[in-house]
Amino acid sequence: MSRRRIIAGNWKMNKTPSEAVALCAELKDLVKNDAVDVVYCVPAIDIVPVVDAVKGTNVLVGAENFYIEDKGAFTGEISAPMLKDAGVTYIIIGHSERRDIFGENDILINAKVKKAFAAGLKPILCCGESLALRKAGTYADWIKRQITWDLDGVTADQVKDLVIAYEPIWAIGTGETATADQAQEVCKMIRDLIAELYDAPTAEAVRIQYGGSMNAGNAAELLSKPDIDGGLIGGASLKADFGKIVNA
Ligand code: PGA
Repeated sequence: MSRRRIIAGNWKMNKTPSEAVALCAELKDLVKNDAVDVVYCVPAIDIVPVVDAVKGTNVLVGAENFYIEDKGAFTGEISAPMLKDAGVTYIIIGHSERRDIFGENDILINAKVKKAFAAGLKPILCCGESLALRKAGTYADWIKRQITWDLDGVTADQVKDLVIAYEPIWAIGTGETATADQAQEVCKMIRDLIAELYDAPTAEAVRIQYGGSMNAGNAAELLSKPDIDGGLIGGASLKADFGKIVNA
């Protein structure tokens, strides 16, 4: 089965609404590629103007965070139905910055995955090990445990619609990329785990991205690997280089 490539930008806490609209205009012609899903995951306040700015293009809009309740007294939070209604398609869940800086654990992340599906959003579920776990050689067990917890109670049909992003923490924003072989090793291991937890057709269908200092120079090699179906791109998604990654 051939899986459709998905190249997603994770803008993180960058770009004011007017800057976001300007970036959409700058990237518009550079990210044209009908063979690839192109996604901009943007700050909450940029969602409405970005949805408007990419109308009529091949770009889909993603969000970076939400809370698991639909509505109510949760000051400062945004719900999955709100994102859906605003025109959001994808939602990043379990990013290491949310795990490490905001204390999100696998119980909350699992609830978010289920809530996202219930609201009609497609999760981009992030996993990945620290430098200490990489050096200790225990990263495989760590990642398997993350994914097993995060997908508890999630159905095979839902997993076929899921994107998993393997993001080694030591490669995020550091300029240090995992080698294509290191990334392929883990992405294959994740696919094998999905086969174990579900079945072979589900493992064949799930799309797995690499993330961590992916850029215009290294994207083609990473994306040439059989189990790497795309990228989740931070720094390089904020500039014209993003178009080169989409078309790598
Ligand atoms: P980076 O970020 O490309 O800047 O390393 C990737 C991410 O955190 O999703």
